[in-house]
Amino acid sequence: MTDTLLSVKNLTLNIPTGSGTLKAVRGIDFDLKRGETLSIVGESGSGKSLTSLAVMGLLGKSIKRQADEMRFDDIDLQKANRRVMRDLRGNRIAMIFQEPMTSLNPAYTIGDQLTETLLLHRKVSKAAARARAVELLEKVGITAAESRLSQYPHQLSGGLRQRVMIALALMCEPDLLIADEPTTALDVTIQAQILRLLVDLTREMNMAMILITHDLGVVARVADKVAVMYAGELVETGPASEVFAAPSHPYTRGLLRCIPQPGKTERGAPLGTIPGIVPSLIGDVSGCVFRTRCAHARPECREAIPLRGDASHEFKCVHPDGALSEEGEVA
Ligand SMILES: Nc1ncnc2c1ncn2[C@@H]1O[C@H](COP(=O)(O)OP(=O)(O)OP(=O)(O)O)[C@@H](O)[C@H]1O
Ligand SMILES: [Mg+2]
Repeated sequence: MTDTLLSVKNLTLNIPTGSGTLKAVRGIDFDLKRGETLSIVGESGSGKSLTSLAVMGLLGKSIKRQADEMRFDDIDLQKANRRVMRDLRGNRIAMIFQEPMTSLNPAYTIGDQLTETLLLHRKVSKAAARARAVELLEKVGITAAESRLSQYPHQLSGGLRQRVMIALALMCEPDLLIADEPTTALDVTIQAQILRLLVDLTREMNMAMILITHDLGVVARVADKVAVMYAGELVETGPASEVFAAPSHPYTRGLLRCIPQPGKTERGAPLGTIPGIVPSLIGDVSGCVFRTRCAHARPECREAIPLRGDASHEFKCVHPDGALSEEGEVA
């Protein structure tokens, strides 16, 4: 028996549009063990949310999902019926969505929303569910937790709502937590606190976590593994320490150059960006998707791209070292 909790092989997501099929996600592989944190990073529109929604079975009906394997524990997610998926969600797999307000129902109290999932999935009394809700609100750092139960979402600040969202996701002690940009709506100082909290709680509860974020500084501190996504593909994956110490794909190196460095980046200096245009993912998508923005692009980048590195730290590039030796030439 392996301790792999989630395994995704060759996941492809196609979205029919008026002007053709959008090949939004192509050939994604990743796996996750209990207690491990995988961070998916990449710029807006690269397919991070779609990938996590595909795992949750929450894609819109029109989106076509294909994979060689999608397994959670011993459950085949491609064969699981709606009842099985509903039971998994909230109970064993929980998600914190990108938009906090869409996940809290304005018409119900915090207490009702917190206890509902537990009452739905577990045979517990109302009193026990309330006790658990209070315990979790305290855990996520909410004071006077008991009195919060009767409040409505609009009565809470953004930071508190985000904490409630985390408590909500943790009510059933899920095995896997998917956190999609869980802090974008918050102040920078609160962001760091909440992420720290999430990571501490996942460790404490021995949960696996998929953390989707733009914030590479956070990833460097908390993730065990990193998957770098660009235009619907994984261009580099590996242990976080290795990817940060030796980023191999030119896109990963571009992203890392965009992080402000304490003491090195001038205050108020614009954040670095990678120039160029993301290719259209409608129609024929072949070769390296990053070639339109890569300083090291060659004619062979239009062909099939080899996977390089070793089984744990892989990257897709025609250059054996990701063109690292040419890096000095880049302006
Ligand atoms: N229902 C849909 N119909 C058409 N296109 C869609 C749909 N959902 C997503 N897309 C497109 O698929 C691509 C990937 O979207 P996704 O939301 O996964 O990106 P993301 O990496 O989560 O971005 P962000 O960082 O902005 O949240 C985008 O180009 C998006 O416009
Ligand atoms: Mg997203």
